[in-house]
Amino acid sequence: MSIKILVADDDASLRRVLQFKLKQKGYEVEIAEDGNHALDELKKSRYDLLLSDIRMPGLSGIELIEKSKQVQPDLEIILITAHATISAAVEAVKLGAFDYLTKPFEDEELFVAIEKALKFKKLENENRLLRQQLNGKERYRHIVGVSKPFKDLLALVDKVAPTDATVLITGESGTGKEIIARAIHYKSPRAEKSFIAVNCAAIPRELIESELFGHVKGSFTGAIKDKRGKFELADEGTLLLDEISELGIELQAKLLRVIQERVIEPVGSESTREIDMRIIAATNVDLKLRISEGKFREDLFYRLNIIPIRVPALRERTDDIPILISEFFGRFSPKQKIKIDDKLLLRLQQYQWPGNIRELENLVERMVILRKSNLLTLGDLPLDFGVNDSIILHPQNSGGELSFHEAEKKIIVDALDKFGWNRSKAAAHLKIPRHILIYRMKKYGIFYKDITDD
Ligand SMILES: Nc1ncnc2c1ncn2[C@@H]1O[C@H](COP(=O)(O)OP(=O)(O)OP(=O)(O)O)[C@@H](O)[C@H]1O
Ligand SMILES: [Mg+2]
Repeated sequence: MSIKILVADDDASLRRVLQFKLKQKGYEVEIAEDGNHALDELKKSRYDLLLSDIRMPGLSGIELIEKSKQVQPDLEIILITAHATISAAVEAVKLGAFDYLTKPFEDEELFVAIEKALKFKKLENENRLLRQQLNGKERYRHIVGVSKPFKDLLALVDKVAPTDATVLITGESGTGKEIIARAIHYKSPRAEKSFIAVNCAAIPRELIESELFGHVKGSFTGAIKDKRGKFELADEGTLLLDEISELGIELQAKLLRVIQERVIEPVGSESTREIDMRIIAATNVDLKLRISEGKFREDLFYRLNIIPIRVPALRERTDDIPILISEFFGRFSPKQKIKIDDKLLLRLQQYQWPGNIRELENLVERMVILRKSNLLTLGDLPLDFGVNDSIILHPQNSGGELSFHEAEKKIIVDALDKFGWNRSKAAAHLKIPRHILIYRMKKYGIFYKDITDD
C-alpha cells in the first residue's frame, strides 16, 4: 500500500515544489491551500502523514494539529516554520506534531524527517497490534488454578467451547463464573466476534426488555431513536445472561422464544430479525428452588441447562490458593516481587472464603497496598480477618487432631454442604431443631450468602 502524504501550505509555489519532490520519492501526495481545506481532506480520506505550514490564513497549523488528531488520531504531523516562530513549533510538538522543519530546509532534511515519522508510526502500529494480541492471551492467562476440581472444570470448558451448546454456569458469588464464560467464548470459533455480558439484576425492570431486544424510535416515551439490543449486539458472538434468576417471569417467556426460534422482535417493531448467538447463563442461586417457588420457568431452565457447569467454591479447592495469590501479586505489584510466608499461606488455606476468589483478590490487593515489606506475614492480615472463622476446618491442613469444637463445626458445615446450604434440611439430617443449628452456626461463625431456605 502506498504511503499518503497531505501537504498544507498557503504558498502555492512551495506547495507545488513539495508535491513534485515527494512524488518523485514514490509517495502519494495531495495538496491543500490552507488549514480548513486540509481538515476537509482529512475528513474525506485517510493519510499517513500531514506536512503543514505553521502559519496559514484561517486555520493555523497549531489549530490544525488539534483538529486533525480528532479526525485521524494516528496521523503523523510535521510542521514547517520560518525562523521567527520556533517557539510555536515547539508548542506544536507538545501538541502532538512529530517534528518540525525550519525554512529554508534541504531536501535531505525533509526526507529524513518524513522517514523517521513513518518509521515511528509503523512501530506504534506494531506495538498496538502486539498489545492487542497480548490482551487476547492475557484474558486467558489470567485464569489460573492447579487443583483437581479446577482442572476438571477447565477440561469441561475445552470440551464445550467449540460447540454452540447453551451453557448454564452455577457457583457461589465470586467463584469465577464470568471469567469461565469468557474462557468459553475466547476458546470458541466465535472468539473474534463480540462477547456481550448482561447483568439481569443490574438493569431496571422497565428497561430490560429494550436493553435485550432493542427498540424502534417512538415505541415509548424516551425512545428518541432506534436502539439495538444486546441480542443483536451479540449476533455471531456470545451472550452472557448473568444472574439469570433475576429475570422477570414475563421476560423469561420472551427469552424462551428467542432461544427456540433464534429470532428477536425489537420493542415497537413489527418485524423480526434472525440472530445467531451462543447463550451462556450464569447464576449463584439454585434455579430449581426458584422453580419450586414459581419464580422461574421450568421449560426455560431445561433450555438453558443443556450443559451445566458448576464452578466450585474456593474452599473446595484450597490447592489453588497459592497460585491465585501469586497471580494477584503480579496484578497488584507488577514491578516489585512480593512473597508470602508459610504461616500466612496456611491461615489463608484454612479460611472458608464465603466471598470466594473475589474476596481473596480483594484481600491480597489490600495487603499489597498496606504491606510493611515485600514478604507478607500474619501481621499483614487485617485485624478483623476471619473473626467469625477462626476455627480450623481442614484437618488435612491443620496437621493435628481436631478439637471437639472443630469437629462439631466440620459436621455442621458438611451437613449444610450436603443439603445445598438449606438449614432446615441440614438440621433434620443432624437431628437437631433448626434454631439450634442456627445458634451453633452463629457460635462457630458459619455465615454464608448462599443460605437457601430464607
Ligand atoms: N481461576 C481464576 N484465576 C484468576 N482469577 C480469577 C479466577 N477465577 C476468578 N478470578 C477473579 O476473581 C474475580 C471474580 O470472578 P468473576 O467475576 O468471574 O466471578 P463471578 O462468579 O462472576 O462473581 P459474582 O457472582 O460476584 O458475579 C475476578 O476479578 C476474576 O478475575
Ligand atoms: Mg459475575
